[in-house]
Amino acid sequence: MPFASEPDPNWLHWLDERRTDALGLFSKRVPARYATTIPLPDEVETWAAAGLGQNESLFLTGHIGVGKTHTAWTATRTWLAACFGQRYRRNPVIEIHRSTSLFDDLRPEGTDPYGTSKRAKEADLLFIDDLAAARVSPTGWTQERLYEIFDERYVQQRPVIMTCDVLPGDLGGIVGARVASRLAEMCADNVVFLEGGDRRTGGGE
Ligand SMILES: Nc1ncnc2c1ncn2[C@@H]1O[C@H](COP(=O)(O)OP(=O)(O)O)[C@@H](O)[C@H]1O
Ligand SMILES: [Mg+2]
Repeated sequence: MPFASEPDPNWLHWLDERRTDALGLFSKRVPARYATTIPLPDEVETWAAAGLGQNESLFLTGHIGVGKTHTAWTATRTWLAACFGQRYRRNPVIEIHRSTSLFDDLRPEGTDPYGTSKRAKEADLLFIDDLAAARVSPTGWTQERLYEIFDERYVQQRPVIMTCDVLPGDLGGIVGARVASRLAEMCADNVVFLEGGDRRTGGGE
């Protein structure tokens, strides 16, 4: 593939097609409720616009129903579109998990714990929804797998996008102190608190 500094129109057309195809496949993964794209807060838009050049993680927090998960889906879509900027690197791989099912899959008796862990470590972007949903700490074994995922992403500087209704500093009791410590650094500049009420009960306006 050419790496043109001044891309020619054919090249941009080719890139547009790759982007359209990737977004089409991504749309099939988006749950119906989050299918519309919503306006993103500026910090989130900026984070997503870096695409594959983004090394930092994004932590979306706020009260229940404020729009964290919807914001994360739109941010992930925006990130994906940005991966097809003026330069083509590769088709990005996005792993998406709800934390409770990720913890289940990582258990020794879970569905393919090592495969799940490997994919979560290596994806270009890992999206974990509702990180603190479990409330109780996963078992030692699961916490160890989680630690491996976060440590690998930490050292390789691969981004994670997370939604969570607990602040990073209060996560130690759920994900373990070693994961919480890495998370704090990975998201240091990108902890976004979404303001507002519970949109599910009409409190969003
Ligand atoms: N910016 C927005 N505009 C319109 N509806 C929104 C917006 N953000 C969230 N919603 C809707 O509000 C509801 C709650 O959002 P959700 O992201 O599930 O909240 P949270 O993850 O913070 O609990 C959903 O129906 C979602 O589609
Ligand atoms: Mg949510």
